[in-house]
Amino acid sequence: MKSISRKAFLSNTCKAACILAGGSAFLTLLEGCAPFKVYSTKTQDGILSVPLAEFATEKSRIVRDNNLDSDIFLSKTETGYIALKMKCTHQDWLLTATGSGFACSSHGSTFATDGKVTNGPATEPLKQLKTIVTNTTIQIYLNQ
Ligand code: FES
Repeated sequence: MKSISRKAFLSNTCKAACILAGGSAFLTLLEGCAPFKVYSTKTQDGILSVPLAEFATEKSRIVRDNNLDSDIFLSKTETGYIALKMKCTHQDWLLTATGSGFACSSHGSTFATDGKVTNGPATEPLKQLKTIVTNTTIQIYLNQ
């Protein structure tokens, strides 16, 4: 067994503690910088419903039902609402929200918040889902 001096042990332990502390602070910082708030809900009869009140002060939400295969990005535009599946159109990997859109960690495709491809290899825009606005909610139709 290789011996290690007390000085080297303390030095290595301090370095590891600093890395762990820095990593934890970095994760906290990342959570605080999440570009879009998440609205969690449950699908009922193939429809996700999001209260209009969610858009009183914000223009977008990531809509999440943990039973679905991907999140949905819902945003308010000048003409209504658009709902986009957050799944890469290249090879179906899940996308990560960035400050300006979405990124795929598989092969590097990126998409704008309107679903258009901003960097390949993907060539098709994100799948858009039908939305209907009622008096109190935005309904997202998963199967149409
Ligand atoms: S699966 Fe997203 S870029 Fe290939």
